[in-house]
Amino acid sequence: MGEYLLEVKGLSVSFCQYEKGWKRSRIQVIRELTVSVRTGEMVAVVGASGSGKSLLAHGIMGVLPYNASVSGEIRYQGEILTEKKIRQLRGKEIVLVPQSVSYLDPLMKVGKQVENGKKGRTGQCREALGRYGLGPETEQLYPFQLSGGMTRRVLISTAVIEKPKLVIADEPTPGLHLEAARRVLGHFREMADEGAGVLLITHDLELALQTADRVVVLYGGMTVEEADREAFQQEETLFHPYSRALYRAMPEHGFSFVPGSQPYVKEMPEGCPYQTRCREVKESCRKFVPLRKTERGSVRCVLWGGEESR
Ligand SMILES: Nc1ncnc2c1ncn2[C@@H]1O[C@H](COP(=O)(O)OP(=O)(O)OP(=O)(O)O)[C@@H](O)[C@H]1O
Ligand SMILES: [Mg+2]
Repeated sequence: MGEYLLEVKGLSVSFCQYEKGWKRSRIQVIRELTVSVRTGEMVAVVGASGSGKSLLAHGIMGVLPYNASVSGEIRYQGEILTEKKIRQLRGKEIVLVPQSVSYLDPLMKVGKQVENGKKGRTGQCREALGRYGLGPETEQLYPFQLSGGMTRRVLISTAVIEKPKLVIADEPTPGLHLEAARRVLGHFREMADEGAGVLLITHDLELALQTADRVVVLYGGMTVEEADREAFQQEETLFHPYSRALYRAMPEHGFSFVPGSQPYVKEMPEGCPYQTRCREVKESCRKFVPLRKTERGSVRCVLWGGEESR
């Protein structure tokens, strides 16, 4: 595996909100989020709805809403990814396949959007669409004429036509039938094999394990565990109770369900965000827990001692 392409360390994102009248409050939605991607690597970020996956993607791309405050470190090719730098690289070297299909311009034909406003790219555009099973006739359509699955494939074509070094794909497969979803993931895999870095965001661990080299587990806006794909083949090589619960929830491991749900952001407890559902909860879970190295990655859990992760 190559050099670090992307390193996100201790990322926190909070939003300023107005409550009744003029009362202002700050809600923290991401804290201590750590993720890295090397060249040639495909890393999956998995977590339940609301765990902060899209905000992580938007934080890297520098497109968070104006009322967001960000702290922590984001490095690209070893250097801090400043606002100026991401503006230069966005849509070129670093691309986002957005989760929301509303990112397409409703008034522009598909062909023009995929070409990204540049002339003389008809061939590349046709090739990109063709790779996802969309014929040349698609170029003449407006977004409202596309089905959900077609829209998703157009969004992916728009991102990958640039031959990016880093791809952030935020839930790229909903609405696609199984074969199309496999093709999309297979293509991201090929891009990684050819030297790009791919950050695949998904709520589906099973899907992640089919293609990714490494998996990062988020819970309540925090990285709770990160490990290579092999570690997810058995429960014993996972250390955070939430990662184990995700493992047991997979169809081939019994579909077992953990009672309760992820706390709402305003009710997020101090310390480990999983403490309200964890059967092994201890007093020390209520305080900050550092990320510590494991044999195959790192974990943030008091049940696991050892050296702190970098
Ligand atoms: N602009 C905003 N202002 C306030 N809170 C926000 C804002 N955007 C997102 N949030 C909150 O941040 C949390 C994380 O949101 P995010 O969209 O990153 O979740 P996600 O993991 O991508 O979920 P999903 O799987 O449903 O896409 C949620 O609780 C959400 O309500
Ligand atoms: Mg999302």
